[in-house]
Amino acid sequence: MDNFIFTSPTYFVFGKDTENKAGEMVKKFGGTKVLIHYGGGSAVKSGLIDRVKASLDKENIPYILLGGVQPNPRSGLVYEGIELCRKENIDFILAVGGGSAIDSSKAIAGGVLYDGDFWDHHSGKSVEKALPVGTVLTIAAAGSEGSGNTVITHENGMFKRGCRTDILRPKFSILNPELTCTLPPFQTACGITDIMAHLYERYLTNTKDVEVTDRLIEGLLLSVINEAPKVMKNPQDYNARANIMWAGTLAHNNVCGVGRTQDWTGHSIEHELSGLYDCAHGAGLAVTMPALFSYVLGHDVARFAQIAVRVWGCQMDFANPEITARKGIEALRQFLISIGMPKNFEELGAKEEDIPYLVDALCCGNGRPGYIEGFVKLDKNDCEKIYKLMV
Ligand code: NZQ
Ligand code: ZN
Repeated sequence: MDNFIFTSPTYFVFGKDTENKAGEMVKKFGGTKVLIHYGGGSAVKSGLIDRVKASLDKENIPYILLGGVQPNPRSGLVYEGIELCRKENIDFILAVGGGSAIDSSKAIAGGVLYDGDFWDHHSGKSVEKALPVGTVLTIAAAGSEGSGNTVITHENGMFKRGCRTDILRPKFSILNPELTCTLPPFQTACGITDIMAHLYERYLTNTKDVEVTDRLIEGLLLSVINEAPKVMKNPQDYNARANIMWAGTLAHNNVCGVGRTQDWTGHSIEHELSGLYDCAHGAGLAVTMPALFSYVLGHDVARFAQIAVRVWGCQMDFANPEITARKGIEALRQFLISIGMPKNFEELGAKEEDIPYLVDALCCGNGRPGYIEGFVKLDKNDCEKIYKLMV
């Protein structure tokens, strides 16, 4: 196991009706004037924004609203949010929504206290300081409620880039599984896929002897695989929603990723897809994962065979472990199809003729050196072959 430093300072408030504690939480973490930042309308329609406002009113905390965050959040609204926060002397940002509202909030939080262009933070410059962010989560998916990451799509070119720093980890996150009951089945499934991807990207490691984190990941994957069909069948199943919601947080606050190298080439490959086609991140991952894993399987057959046996219940073929490894990838693919995820470029809305553009943006865009590196180093040729496997 590698040396590590781990901090997960977010204060989690979990359970029914907890959104009514938003005001109390903002006060606890020192907010005196709040920007409530939210998405395209689901939180307004469900009455959630009104409940959050009432809870701030109860604590006499003034606020302003900025809605309209799109899935795959855009740079334009981040610039607008930064200006608004400066003009209104905002000292706390409350994200209400999913990964997109939270990531947009984090990008604004870092941008308000920075003299230059916030995009610098998405091009490798570290964030030195940021406004505090709190979240009221409405979808179990991205794990942004417990992570230090923000992923934004730059409208000038439609490419998507992330920024990661512990400074951007939320001060608090309110997780009420009931709020996720209004999700359309497709979004529920996209969230489940993203959670699984976060676990897989950590499982694919080159570090030896990481039994504890291996077992944490396997346990979370088993739980998600068990609970997912329940919510797909009955969207109102509170306990299944609750289990998936907490799994989503644990999958990405890095408790499962410490002390080991991680992959993340899968996310980089996908981000080009959701950046260019504006598809849902989880749907893009459903198409990416089986292709990528099949391509890199030879790098560590034993690791893929291990997850096949421990998570997917495959029988170990000791004479030919590669057969077991491939069965595990196929089991993942079939599972994703069973919850309604796309299985290829066509179903995702991606186009084969764009592959040269995708490869170039992936390997060379935004100052990248001509390759991406994680579990395996992938050059342009590799990435082209992986995208072709998705067609
Ligand atoms: O905008 P509204 O109207 O709220 O609708 C949203 C949106 O259309 C809807 N939705 C959310 N909660 C709902 C709901 N509809 C009904 N009822 C509810 N309770 O769902 C749609 C998707 O929302 P979004 O916030 O985009 O979903 P998600 O949480 O999957 O976030 C995806 C974004 O997070 C990034 C992705 O790249 C993508 O841009 N990621 C962020 C990460 C991080 N910060 O740590 C890590 C991830 O790997 C990921 O890259
Ligand atoms: Zn993800």
